[in-house]
Amino acid sequence: MRNSSYHDYDEVYGVSDEYYWGVKPSYMCLKIIELMPPDKYTRVLDIGCGEGKDSVFLARCGYDVSAFDLSDTGVEKTKKLAERANVKVNVFKANIWDYRLNDNYDILFSSGVLHYIKPELRDEVFGNYLTHTNENGLNVFNVFIKKPFITPAPENEEHSYLWSSGQLLAYYSDWYVEDFSEFVFDCNSSEVPHQHAMNSIFARKK
Ligand SMILES: C[S@@+](CC[C@H](N)C(=O)[O-])C[C@H]1O[C@@H](n2cnc3c(N)ncnc32)[C@H](O)[C@@H]1O
Repeated sequence: MRNSSYHDYDEVYGVSDEYYWGVKPSYMCLKIIELMPPDKYTRVLDIGCGEGKDSVFLARCGYDVSAFDLSDTGVEKTKKLAERANVKVNVFKANIWDYRLNDNYDILFSSGVLHYIKPELRDEVFGNYLTHTNENGLNVFNVFIKKPFITPAPENEEHSYLWSSGQLLAYYSDWYVEDFSEFVFDCNSSEVPHQHAMNSIFARKK
């Protein structure tokens, strides 16, 4: 996964019509299909959808997808990708800091975004997400985590707050955890080879 500065996303996405993150869905989407196939009406929210590769993939699979991102260019590119795929994605601009869910979803999904939530807002944001997930629904999230043996990414992002290992799991003590993992991966953003550590969770509300 590439990483980039919070302030740069409009610029980064606007450089060309190419998709900065590509159009191939995350492995997490494939696991969503395994855990909750869209054989009945299933409502998904993609939190921080970027340019829409995962939202559009899930919509193509038959999910009813809503998605938001802070980047205007990301929102526009998501709309274009959905049009090209001839699917509907309800995509809008919102800031994860103050956007709270009023409706319920079957699946809340977010990849590469939750480190942008200010730490003092995490409990409130997660309280809102957990409440607004339907029974038997899924939360599918990953977070960048701090590890003493991983040197900080070269971008020195503003408004990027790494999580602690296991902190994401703690929000799901009352849920059925389908899968939780921790891994380290290589990254070459800013043309500087480095590594990131991440936790990912697939949790089901019982
Ligand atoms: C690493 S990208 C991931 C995009 C997408 N989830 C993907 O995997 O392709 C991070 C995204 O978070 C969005 N973002 C950053 N801060 C945000 C905020 N405060 N509220 C909503 N989205 C935000 C950025 O605009 C960017 O599209």
